[in-house]
Amino acid sequence: MATAMTETTTAAEPVDLLAKFDPIIQTREALLAAGVEDPFNLVMEQVLSPTRAICNGRDTILLGTYNYMGMTFDDDVIAAGKQAMEDFGAGTTGSRVLNGTFRDHRDVEAALREFYAMDHAMVFSTGYQANLGIISTLAGKGDYIILDIDSHASIYDGCAMGKAEVVPFKHNDVEALEKRLKRIPEGAGKLVVLEGVYSMMGDVAPLKEMVSIAKENGAMVLVDEAHSMGFIGEHGRGVAEEQGVLDQVDFIIGTFSKSVGTVGGFCVSNHPKFEVLRLVCRPYVFTAALPPAVMASSATSIRKLMHGGNKRAHLWENSRTLHKGLKGLGFQLGTETPQSAIIAVIMPDLEKGAMMWEALLKEGLYVNLARPPATPAGMTLLRCSLCAEHTADQVQTILGMFERAGRAIGII
Ligand SMILES: Cc1ncc(COP(=O)(O)O)c(C=O)c1O
Repeated sequence: MATAMTETTTAAEPVDLLAKFDPIIQTREALLAAGVEDPFNLVMEQVLSPTRAICNGRDTILLGTYNYMGMTFDDDVIAAGKQAMEDFGAGTTGSRVLNGTFRDHRDVEAALREFYAMDHAMVFSTGYQANLGIISTLAGKGDYIILDIDSHASIYDGCAMGKAEVVPFKHNDVEALEKRLKRIPEGAGKLVVLEGVYSMMGDVAPLKEMVSIAKENGAMVLVDEAHSMGFIGEHGRGVAEEQGVLDQVDFIIGTFSKSVGTVGGFCVSNHPKFEVLRLVCRPYVFTAALPPAVMASSATSIRKLMHGGNKRAHLWENSRTLHKGLKGLGFQLGTETPQSAIIAVIMPDLEKGAMMWEALLKEGLYVNLARPPATPAGMTLLRCSLCAEHTADQVQTILGMFERAGRAIGII
């Protein structure tokens, strides 16, 4: 009897593409095995105000949001969003260059032009996409991007997407920037990328010196003011305004997810050819436009921030009090003096940092536990970001919580 030969194929074992993340999985498992609450899985079951929420079942003071100006619960901001949702529906279902530009997309861009007193404004779905889009579109193959080594991930990703030559320089080091600029071949396109406030340590860039050096060396300048918009500078335009160089900066990048209190990103500029970017910037063209409610809320918030002088003064007061209090308790801080609404408390290591984070949460305080690759120099930080709506009493309560938790964990 003839037997039919059947061919069997043995499936090759696939290379597990997630295997490269094993060290991260192990670090996380070790951390949770020690019994701490998961610092990266916090749930806000109820948000009571810009400064209070029920987190993991507890009434908690929020000291780790980017809600610097407390606009998330502003009555006018909420009303504008509700009305736009009623009038225009829940979403846009399309790109800005097709069916996704509604009345309020135009209006929020007008609000940005008013806020910055600049000629052009372009809104993206997030600040991440604004950096990705603008940087990759401005600087391509053969161009040079000279950036601070501590730049945000979205800046690095924008550089990678555009395929320009990336030249990093030491954080906030004016001489290092100049040296790098001088080594770039004559005639090459050059974009210097800086941030106003660096979000991990809360320190401010010496923009006055840096912008002037960039200009002397024939570079265009882009400044990401994500963490300074609304708060720093006389009109809240950011560190470039505060240091008197706003008119020399070619492109300002910002986000609505911080002081504005909504979501979205933007670029403003006086460059006469700026509008062409709407046609060539892929992260602007190939994604859906933000919902009209978000746009209406954002426009209202931006216009209110133009008159936020009192709130700015109170936020500075909060920042100074918390910085002085934490320093007085013996914590090691990211900056010698308060420079922004962010105060970074340096932890000895990840384990102590996670224990301190949890002790604070049990006290009723939420801060950000930040670790590499987000932080510089391998540091573990407890990042505190203040809000203009924190009361003076809340700041004192926060200091008491830090004192008790710090003593219990043995950090102070
Ligand atoms: C400096 C900087 N740029 C851009 C962004 C991205 O902003 P968004 O949250 O709108 O994507 C962030 C976010 O934290 C940031 O810190």
